[in-house]
Amino acid sequence: MTERSEQVAIITGASSGIGEAAALALAGKGVKLVLAARRADRLKDLTRRVKDAGGQALPVTCDVVDRGQVARVVQTAQNEFGRIDILINNAGIMPLAPMAKCRMDDWDAEIDVNIKGLLYGIGCALPIMLEQKTGHIINVSSVAGRLIFPNAAVYCGTKHAVHAISEGLRSELAAQSKEDGNRIRVTVIAPGVVATELIGSVRDEESRKGTEGFYHSFRQPLLSEDIAASILYAIEAPPHVDVNEILIRPVEQTI
Ligand SMILES: NC(=O)c1ccc[n+]([C@@H]2O[C@H](COP(=O)([O-])OP(=O)(O)OC[C@H]3O[C@@H](n4cnc5c(N)ncnc54)[C@H](OP(=O)(O)O)[C@@H]3O)[C@@H](O)[C@H]2O)c1
Repeated sequence: MTERSEQVAIITGASSGIGEAAALALAGKGVKLVLAARRADRLKDLTRRVKDAGGQALPVTCDVVDRGQVARVVQTAQNEFGRIDILINNAGIMPLAPMAKCRMDDWDAEIDVNIKGLLYGIGCALPIMLEQKTGHIINVSSVAGRLIFPNAAVYCGTKHAVHAISEGLRSELAAQSKEDGNRIRVTVIAPGVVATELIGSVRDEESRKGTEGFYHSFRQPLLSEDIAASILYAIEAPPHVDVNEILIRPVEQTI
């Protein structure tokens, strides 16, 4: 396996929350980073913090709904660092609302970001990993990818899709591994309630208030750093071990 200090990771949705914490955790292990999200100022600030701590990072402004912009992120990693060991497909939104409100713009947006954006990441990085015969694709899903909640039907649908796509990809790569010995791993990280800015993506006011109430009802929700630690756990497993899924909730989460 490539030495950790030679490894290169792409993180989408690196400008806040789980993506930002994952970036700092990986930088602490010497992994070189390509950081993608739409908010350039946040990426610039994170890049500075990584560099101040002795790490390497490149910020690339990217809207994952645009396939060309995702390709540019992957190209940057390949051109500047020469390889891609880890892709963390983390960018996501959660515009919760009851189906009866028929918020079709929200449906489009969450399908575009949570499913298509993730697929673009895979589609652009996988050919490079296949060529290298090594790599690790980490898809950030949710408990909503395992269960279905009222007011979250479409969000749950997108996260169930993340699980389906990940497992399909994993089993195809496993079959190929038997043929050519590739070591490309696929991991799904499925968090419960994490204190991040995600509630800001709930655009239906009534649903946002409900979601805020639910999130604030936790004495101790998960922190982004907890999720970053679970990502590190999967990455640091021996190369023949593929941690397929980590479902992780705060102790007080009942659903
Ligand atoms: N927080 C939770 O309770 C929780 C639970 C389960 C799963 N998750 C999942 O965890 C992932 C990260 O969310 P978070 O909780 O860390 O929330 P967050 O702080 O809001 O982070 C979301 C990230 O996604 C990026 N993003 C959103 N739309 C994007 C787009 N079109 N193109 C590129 N980047 C985009 C945002 O960056 P820009 O706005 O700068 O583009 C931001 O960096 C999501 O997939 C979410 O579904 C979160």
